[in-house]
Amino acid sequence: MRALKIVTVVGARPQFIKMAPVSRELRKYFEERVVHTGQHYDYGMSRVFFEQLGVPLPDYNLGVGSGTHAYQTGEMLKGIERVLLEEEPEIVMVYGDTNSTLAGALAAAKLRIKVAHVEAGLRSFDKRMPEEVNRVLVDHMSDYLFAPTETAVENLRREGLVDGVHLTGDVMYDALLQNLKVARRNSRILDELGLRPREYLLATVHRPRNTDRGENLKAIVEAFVESGEPVVFPAHPRTQKALRYYGLLDALERAKNVIMTPPLGYLDMLVLEENARKILTDSGGVQKEAYFLRVPCITLRERTEWVETVEDGWNVLVGADKERILRAIREFEPAGGAYSYRFGDGRASKIIAEILRGVSE
Ligand code: UD1
Ligand code: UDP
Repeated sequence: MRALKIVTVVGARPQFIKMAPVSRELRKYFEERVVHTGQHYDYGMSRVFFEQLGVPLPDYNLGVGSGTHAYQTGEMLKGIERVLLEEEPEIVMVYGDTNSTLAGALAAAKLRIKVAHVEAGLRSFDKRMPEEVNRVLVDHMSDYLFAPTETAVENLRREGLVDGVHLTGDVMYDALLQNLKVARRNSRILDELGLRPREYLLATVHRPRNTDRGENLKAIVEAFVESGEPVVFPAHPRTQKALRYYGLLDALERAKNVIMTPPLGYLDMLVLEENARKILTDSGGVQKEAYFLRVPCITLRERTEWVETVEDGWNVLVGADKERILRAIREFEPAGGAYSYRFGDGRASKIIAEILRGVSE
């Protein structure tokens, strides 16, 4: 009897990180094929993660690239369908909430192939975010819903999704635990940037609401500059383009305190996160990693799907409001250092593989 076959569909930076620990487990029991949609394609947004995390290189790269939502999702659907017809897997694995997640789940569901969604049940309750649309649709198409937290399980229950829901813990926590020591040993990023622990802020920005609205991006950039503290800012390509478009690049380059870099590899990122005085971000994954590492996080959004980090006092939501950002940089401190939420125990990937294995027997 041939081993059960799983096709994993990924395409964007955080998905390469999420799949790393899961793929390692899946490959103990299953045959896995990896489809890279090509949503992210720069070396620093894609290949570096395969190299650093030992992720098996994709068997298929659809080379879809950038474009509108419909273009991107449509091209992915066509390419993924072709692969699924050829490979005939029993299960398609998808991660998170990007257009690659939606396309993978939809192509599989229409071919009646089972869909397994890692990071099911996350909700920001803000439908203006493309990711929220993707999350809701993918969860409702999925057969296995791997929820990282109790909150996620409860969100699914409220939408009538109970069958196939499993509380597994968070695979990003697994990835972090597996790589932190390696990062501490190998990364030279603090020396390279001339930084000392707890003497700088780390910032990432890439949400359309912050990059595609000039006034929001300007407020964020001004807050970085006016903080006067060293701000390390690895800029997502979308953000680099927006900074250029809105004429904000000069101000950043002139500012002596802002250290802008290209997107960084995961190991450098972990070291920068662990040693930052505070983190400013609109990223989902970076908010979580700040919590895992117990670094105060200032979130440049009005809502978050990772509510546990806010309830526990480690994260504060400030939107794209210059004064609120500056106040949080100066004053925000985690209330009492509570740490009451579990994102699992670093074994989420094992649990996911075991569940799929049990189902397959
Ligand atoms: C996507 C996801 C978002 C996720 C983020 C992770 C969707 C709808 N959004 O957003 O949920 O948080 O990835 O980083 O799926 N670009 C490059 N080189 C690259 C990749 C992108 O130059 O390798 C530029 C292009 O100009 C592109 C823009 O970045 O148009 C945005 O890329 P895209 O993948 O559409 O969305 P992200 O903002 O990266
Ligand atoms: N990340 C990275 N280099 C960077 C910025 C982020 O390795 O320059 C990592 C980060 O540590 C986290 C993940 O990418 O593991 C988060 O991805 P991103 O912010 O792109 O997407 P989101 O989580 O918001 O979907």
